[in-house]
Amino acid sequence: MQNRTNFATKLGVILATVGSSVGLGNIWRFPFEAGRNGGSAFILIYVGCVLLLGIPCILAEFLVGRRSHANPVEAFGKLAPRTPWYLVGLMGIFTGFCINGFYCVVTGWTFSYFLTSLRGSFFEDGTDYSRFFTEFSTGTWQPILWAVLAMLAVHWVVSRGVRKGIEMSGRILMPVLFLLLLVLGVRGLFMPGAAEGLRFLFMPDFSGVTATTVLSALGQAFFSLSVGMGALLTYSSYFSDEVSLEKTAYQVAGLDTLVAILAGIVVFPAVFSFGIQPSAGPGLVFVTMPEVFAGMPLSNLWSSLFYLLLAIAALTSSVSLHEAVVAFISEHFELSRRKASLFVLMIVVCMGALCSLSIGVLGKYTLGGRNFFDMLDFLTSAFLLPFGGLLTTLFVGWKLGPASLQEELSSHGRYRVRLIKVYLFLIRFVAPICILAIFLFNLLM
Ligand code: PFF
Repeated sequence: MQNRTNFATKLGVILATVGSSVGLGNIWRFPFEAGRNGGSAFILIYVGCVLLLGIPCILAEFLVGRRSHANPVEAFGKLAPRTPWYLVGLMGIFTGFCINGFYCVVTGWTFSYFLTSLRGSFFEDGTDYSRFFTEFSTGTWQPILWAVLAMLAVHWVVSRGVRKGIEMSGRILMPVLFLLLLVLGVRGLFMPGAAEGLRFLFMPDFSGVTATTVLSALGQAFFSLSVGMGALLTYSSYFSDEVSLEKTAYQVAGLDTLVAILAGIVVFPAVFSFGIQPSAGPGLVFVTMPEVFAGMPLSNLWSSLFYLLLAIAALTSSVSLHEAVVAFISEHFELSRRKASLFVLMIVVCMGALCSLSIGVLGKYTLGGRNFFDMLDFLTSAFLLPFGGLLTTLFVGWKLGPASLQEELSSHGRYRVRLIKVYLFLIRFVAPICILAIFLFNLLM
């Protein structure tokens, strides 16, 4: 692992890592999950999950990454030589390919919707947006071409390396993302239905809360924070000792949650203004939002800004999904970063093509009622991510133990870590037990 680089600046560390976490999970999945699960109560539970489960998991991944300065497979291998723990890293690589498979398809959709929004004709009277989305997403070539285009952009960033590619893209794109979110959020607050939208988001009503609500919030926290497959581990392997893991974990969890809530402020006032059901599901962003934009003045402008926001969020998260796998392949097989990335690109595109076709012409091939796209989504969020997170917390809590936790969180004595006992308790007991609960729930339902 000679010549392994680090991120150049602390700001770069935060922006790149937040770029991994903030993605389709925040802006596409969070609003519809909140909408489906009753709004504010879901959000409160979600925040609880981030604090109790998300932060310990981030800390555990950061610790393994920075302590080993290695890719996910070699990280576990280095910290626990001659044990099967490296399999956790290998599972992460597999998970990375699987998430990438469907994530690249949705990333492609966001690119296409952005460019379509720029065209005037998208908002001509009488467009049926539900039909438009179905025809587009079930088409044979178009969605695949968009996914390929999106993946070429990701490949370009990753090939340029840690500093010039990943760090630079985070430094440019994340401020743009925050600016867009702010502009759209302020626009949302001035919509006629804003009060109703905000009430839906912020007035807790626990009457509809069930076990499913709690477990959906847990699952959402997991996916949204990018925990469980080694993406954060890989990024933290590029952290220097000057980076405080504790502070970075809070910044990532805090900003990720902020973006999710801001996305709610963008989506719900608009949805209520136009009398649309907030529980519209996954179509909320690709079907309902165009309907909302069509009824607004300057529809093209607002719609373009919104899909640009979504495309940027998807892109920076895709970069981290790609990087975790590329780091392993290039280091393990001693390939150049560019060649490794090209290899990953080819596999991801093949999986993406299958995912996309499985919504369309290959729709009749299902397993347990799920097409390939849904299967990958289910397999990763219900099984692989929770399992990866569970094993990582067990590894840090029980295999590495309190001394390594103290050493790494304090950056070898550089920082004071006041809550060390709390973290140890969360990593050893609370997080594994909660994750096991999501895991079992998903398996049994
Ligand atoms: N956190 C990303 C999102 O919210 O869209 C998705 C993701 C990225 C999950 C990277 C897992 C991962 F390793």
